[in-house]
Amino acid sequence: MSDMKARGKKRGIVAGPHSQKKNSPREGAGGDATAKRPASTSERAVGTRLFNNNFLGLLGPQEAQGAVEHTQEIGRVPTGIAGLDALIEGGFERNSINTIMGGPGTGKTIIAFQFIYNGAVQFNEPGVFINLQQHCEQCRNHMRRLGFDIDKLEREKKLVVLSYAPSEIAEIIKSGGTTIKDAIDSIGAKRLVIDPLNELLIYYEKRYAMRTSVEELSSLLRRWNVTTLATLEMHGNAQDSMYPSTQFVSDGVIVLSTYYEGNIRNHAVEVLKMKGTRYPRGTYPYYITDNGVVVFPNDKVFCERIH
Ligand SMILES: Nc1ncnc2c1ncn2[C@@H]1O[C@H](COP(=O)(O)OP(=O)(O)OP(=O)(O)O)[C@@H](O)[C@H]1O
Ligand SMILES: [Mg+2]
Repeated sequence: MSDMKARGKKRGIVAGPHSQKKNSPREGAGGDATAKRPASTSERAVGTRLFNNNFLGLLGPQEAQGAVEHTQEIGRVPTGIAGLDALIEGGFERNSINTIMGGPGTGKTIIAFQFIYNGAVQFNEPGVFINLQQHCEQCRNHMRRLGFDIDKLEREKKLVVLSYAPSEIAEIIKSGGTTIKDAIDSIGAKRLVIDPLNELLIYYEKRYAMRTSVEELSSLLRRWNVTTLATLEMHGNAQDSMYPSTQFVSDGVIVLSTYYEGNIRNHAVEVLKMKGTRYPRGTYPYYITDNGVVVFPNDKVFCERIH
């Protein structure tokens, strides 16, 4: 038995077929799913098992490059977060609408930005980031701190950041979304983020008005041929969401939650829905690092209560 397999066994990790091949399809921005998972206070709450659908993260450099090309050929849109892509057959479906929901500080904005950043830098797919939070400059500083060179991407016309107040975005959608479409056309954007969608939804007092707006937005996005990732602030359980219509309108829904190992609160990701995609039923740990979010698709989380 190799050293690595022996070490994996000691930690309760079953080594996958490619686990000895050290690689990263891309540096930074969550590209290395083989990265060592940070030490935990207790391994008891975390079970692991061999996961056969290990995609980009566990391949050698040449295989990984081939896999990335294949992924794009078959119409997947990689997030560039290797461990996350491994869970969803290499990425989102092209031109699909996806929602990532989670509680405060679970990394929704970071993942959304990695999706845009990696798209522009690694896959030659420019992106539009629609920021609906009030403090855009603060958010930009956070992204710069994580090493995302926003200003360079903007100069190279690979990124447009739009910021709107809730009333503005509501009006823009109602009147056909021209300013957003113009931004998409100005850089040939293939990816679009809305962060967070709640800011639009809370604008509506009546549920049917909210639903109408969500449907109008969805039909605009589908016409614009962009792959969309919207973030959604979640309170409590995903199934009891205040905004169920967003889940029905989305082609894909990813849920970020937290669980305890001893007194440490850790993060876990689950694919709740992904049309046309074979994805594993399970919850997988992820960490927010200096390079963004890193997901561990080979380490399954077993615990009774996920928040
Ligand atoms: N370098 C880092 N290492 C570890 N954690 C980090 C790092 N940088 C940021 N974080 C964590 O990332 C979280 C913020 O991420 P992000 O803004 O994406 O969360 P969010 O889910 O969008 O939050 P909100 O719901 O408030 O918008 C914070 O909890 C912060 O502690
Ligand atoms: Mg956020």
